[in-house]
Amino acid sequence: MSVTYRISYIEGDGIGPEIFTAARSVIEVLGECFKISFEFVPAPAGDRVLRETGEALPKSSYSIIRESDLCLKAPVGETALQTIIFLRQQLNLYANIRPAKNYQFIESKFQGVDLVIVRENTEDLYVSREFEENEGKKAIALKVVTEEASWRIARVAFETALSRETNRNGKGRGPNVVCVHKSNVLPKSDGLFQRTCDSVAKNFPSVKYSSMYVDTAAMNLVKSPEAFDVIVTSNMYGDILSDEASQVVGGLGLAASGNMGDDFAVFEPVHGCAPDIAGKGIGNPLSMLFTAKMMLDWLSSKRSDKSSAAASKCLESSISAVTGAGIKTRDIGGKSSTVEVARAICEEIRKQTGLGVDDGNMEAVKEDVVLRW
Ligand code: IPM
Ligand code: MN
Repeated sequence: MSVTYRISYIEGDGIGPEIFTAARSVIEVLGECFKISFEFVPAPAGDRVLRETGEALPKSSYSIIRESDLCLKAPVGETALQTIIFLRQQLNLYANIRPAKNYQFIESKFQGVDLVIVRENTEDLYVSREFEENEGKKAIALKVVTEEASWRIARVAFETALSRETNRNGKGRGPNVVCVHKSNVLPKSDGLFQRTCDSVAKNFPSVKYSSMYVDTAAMNLVKSPEAFDVIVTSNMYGDILSDEASQVVGGLGLAASGNMGDDFAVFEPVHGCAPDIAGKGIGNPLSMLFTAKMMLDWLSSKRSDKSSAAASKCLESSISAVTGAGIKTRDIGGKSSTVEVARAICEEIRKQTGLGVDDGNMEAVKEDVVLRW
């Protein structure tokens, strides 16, 4: 065990602390079994912290996040603007990666869905610049689109399409990027986004490329979601389509995301903090666990770390075994509590690794370092 990954974490509000603690216990078992050293450093933020300290993201938490290798964040309540939106923009986490995939152990109306939404994460309406006129009777919001941000997100989309496991085995439909926009109504802003994606596409001749209006994309996502591979879109459309895509494959209780910059990332579930079920111990820990899986995949590719790649695979197969055996929370048709699901997954990981991979047996760690989303 040579390196230690320092994970800063935000427990958040509502069901945040419950699902975070569950995921942390699973990550610690993975660390033990795959000889990966994780150090967890709290970076308190969110509604509760605002009430207690007067700041939703105190400077001390921000420094802790900046000094860590990555941040794992549970949902916060009403303070998203001061926390996650601030972090996305301040740390230049320009790509929000949101996979939506059918698992055979999760009931869904569709089959064969395996797509990724690559959402621009720093601009568009999320610059949050609003103005009032006429004594508040007229409101204006700025939508900002730059060529630079459109260019870099388009590149991420094409590179993602080429690196996806499903597109590398030669069996799938092959790499495919769809640019989603509304340039018929917004020829300057969305037009710039689309034209930039069009020109980046020319550098990736092996990737099939097309573009689609956002309303058509919303329709196609519930008509034939299996036809999508990678969707690249601006911030607000990506927000809306990613909630839709999560329902297509079984619900927000499973949806994970990564806010990625060039060398830092904040990983978080797509959903909110569900205050209505907070404290009841029934929140689904799977969204946080799939988020942890994205974290491991990111570590494996950024740090060429085969142990993280193997741990990610083991996490997925353990989730599959446990959920398949009916140990799941009620939002996905089970009766188990958050803690019961996490505990069962920990046991399954130990079982699958034969109580851990010891130093002399690194044979078990022979994963390729590839992106799995
Ligand atoms: C998301 C969330 C946030 C967003 C909110 C909480 C500001 O909905 O991550 O999808 O709109 O980006
Ligand atoms: Mn959202």
